[in-house]
This record gives sequence, structure tokens and C-alpha cells, in this order.
Amino acid sequence: PIPVITIDGPSGVGKGTTCALVAEQLGWHLLDSGSIYRALALKVMKASIDTKDEALLIETAKSLQLSFTVADDGTTQIKLDGEVVNEQLRSEACGDMASKIAPIPAIRQALFIRQKAFQRHPGLVADGRDMGTVVFKSAPLKVFLTANAEERAKRRHKQLKLKGVDVKIRALLEDIEARDFRDSTRKVAPLVPAADAHVIDTSDLSIKQVLAQIMNLVEQ
Ligand code: CDP
Repeated sequence: PIPVITIDGPSGVGKGTTCALVAEQLGWHLLDSGSIYRALALKVMKASIDTKDEALLIETAKSLQLSFTVADDGTTQIKLDGEVVNEQLRSEACGDMASKIAPIPAIRQALFIRQKAFQRHPGLVADGRDMGTVVFKSAPLKVFLTANAEERAKRRHKQLKLKGVDVKIRALLEDIEARDFRDSTRKVAPLVPAADAHVIDTSDLSIKQVLAQIMNLVEQ
């Protein structure tokens, strides 16, 4: 079987950066499952779909025209309906909308197969909320990253500042807490570590230290 490492955790924990580095070190493929939920969210916003219209949301999830192309330099180009949407997907509005539609079971089911398709030779690093509990349940190595909400808000603040976006840490903290609450209390695929996951609290760790811990687990 093609090996998979699942790395799950809440918003702002540094999963994106960590997963990209692990995938790079191993020379494996990378699945940023959040970007699939975000792409659906973007489509919902662009098409002004009523989020109460579940049938239409599900239909949209099933027929989503979404593609991921990895360039030679390792960057991924994400196209929605033929348009490159990498930047648009990163907006707070998109993340917020994603977490509002992600609890719907039929939506998760519709996006399941798209995530599975990323499992290719020589291996896959899967970043998300339910990679170890649902999508790649039998992965031999599962990691769950945590950090306290204040630290995550600070990290997000720093990340946004680098992009020239100035948001108050307090507002980010509120957003993170609201998203944590929605993600961990939903009935389907709630955000919890898999029973066999290695939980790493990254509050006082640098990305380099987290990476070292994960690579250590890989080599075991
Ligand atoms: O970047 P950030 O960690 O804030 O979010 P993301 O990973 O891009 O995911 C955005 C939202 O999509 C999350 O808040 C979840 O509600 C949802 N999501 C999910 O339900 N399952 C996944 N495997 C990935 C994301």
C-alpha cells in the first residue's frame, strides 16, 4: 500500500507549513484538504448559493470543477472553474464559509473521493481535520498538532502581517475560538485526535522543532 502520514489539528497551529516541509523532505505528495473545503466555499460565495439550500450545496460539491497542478518548483496551482484561485482561497471569509458548510455529512462524503485521489506513489502527507479519523483511517503514522488558542492567534497575526494584512489579534482569537467550537462539536468528523495519533503540543515549539519530532516518528 502507498504510505500516508496524516497531520491533523485546529486552525493556526502551523499545519500547512509543517506538512509542506515533511512532504518536501520525504519527496512525497501533499494534500491540503482544507483547500478543497475552501474551494467549495469560494464557489458557494461566487455563485451566491444559499447556505440553507443543502441539496444545492451537495450538488455543487459533487460537480465542483477543481484541479491541482504541481509545478516544477513544487508550488501547487489550484484552479476552480478554470480560474487560478490560490490567493482567494486564503481569505478569512473563505475559511469561515468552509467551516460553516463542512459539518454537512453529504458534503464531506462528496469531497471524500477527491481527497483519496491524492494517495499516489511514493507517498502522501495529508493535512486536515479528519485525515487520521476518517479519510486515511488506516494510515501507519498519524500526528495531531495542538497549540493554545492565544498562540495560534499570534501565529496567524504574524502570517497575515507578512502579507500586509493588519487585523487585531483579539479579532483573530475570537475567530479561532468560534472555528474551534464549530469544528470540534460537529456531529460528523469532529476535530479530535485519532486514537492512534501522536499528539504534539506546539505552543512552545518552533516549526523546526515540530518538523524534527515528526521526522523522528517517521524514522521509527
Ligand atoms: O487554514 P485553516 O487551518 O484555518 O483552515 P483550513 O485547513 O484551510 O480549513 C478550513 C475549514 O475547512 C476548517 O475550519 C474546517 O471546518 C474545514 N475542514 C474540514 O472540515 N475538514 C478538513 N479535512 C479540512 C478542513
